[in-house]
Amino acid sequence: MNVGPDPAGADPASDPAGADPGPDPAAEGGLPGADGAVRRVLRAELARARERRAGQPVRVLDVGGGTGVWAVPMAAAGCAVTVVDISPDALATLRGRALRAGMDDRITSVQGDVQTLSEVVSPGGADLVLGHNLLEVVDDVAAAVAQLAGAAAPGGAVSVLTAGRHAAALAQAHAGRLDEARAVLTDPAGRWGEADPLQRRLDATGLRGLLESAAGLAIEVVQGDGVFHGWLPASIEEDDPARLEDLEALVADHPELLVLAARLHVLARRTA
Ligand SMILES: C[S@@+](CC[C@H](N)C(=O)[O-])C[C@H]1O[C@@H](n2cnc3c(N)ncnc32)[C@H](O)[C@@H]1O
Repeated sequence: MNVGPDPAGADPASDPAGADPGPDPAAEGGLPGADGAVRRVLRAELARARERRAGQPVRVLDVGGGTGVWAVPMAAAGCAVTVVDISPDALATLRGRALRAGMDDRITSVQGDVQTLSEVVSPGGADLVLGHNLLEVVDDVAAAVAQLAGAAAPGGAVSVLTAGRHAAALAQAHAGRLDEARAVLTDPAGRWGEADPLQRRLDATGLRGLLESAAGLAIEVVQGDGVFHGWLPASIEEDDPARLEDLEALVADHPELLVLAARLHVLARRTA
């Protein structure tokens, strides 16, 4: 039975690029692979960054980039990518993935902690900073967000994707875990209990506040990633991905539905 988005907030199907970066990213002028709300926004952002860079490769910093789910397609789209991750194992897997995709010369891997990011990468040096599926696992979220913002060049953007609180509450209730659903809604960090593997879940207001007030970023996009994903019969997800994708696109920026997404996505700009 399909019981909705993973109650822990992790999404095993969240590999947005897959192992295959796709045949012709250059022709598309952006991220390869199937479409999706997050990718669409990032593709547009890459187009803007290319204009600013006037022929130089767009510099992408993927923090908590893990095994390269985003980094490899970004490199395939022509970017110079630096991945910072705390895990040497994840970075080793990333290097293998980059090599297999023929992108190893465009990806630099650095072991480091987002909370002290400025110790391993130059502040203000990235056109696009990714912090995807990261804020829910760090100890000090305000420090992490401030570091992500500080890594962006003036005019550059920060893309944050993080576990949504409301979807997790629904998933817990749907699985019959009513106490845990209540905890997700009432716990200040949105955790369902001591054994919850995530440090926090955010709602759209909280995420906006963090990026605006803690990090001084100007928010340009708030959208949901995966409103329906996980709630539908598995057969539909498997057999009709294009129509599901279409449905997701319809609600990704719908103010009354995006808050129910498994993950929330924000694109924010460093204005100065
Ligand atoms: C759920 S994975 C996300 C991977 C990738 N960004 C994605 O969206 O698929 C979280 C990653 O963050 C890394 N990580 C956890 N804490 C970190 C920290 N304090 N600083 C940097 N990376 C961290 C983990 O090693 C892991 O690779």
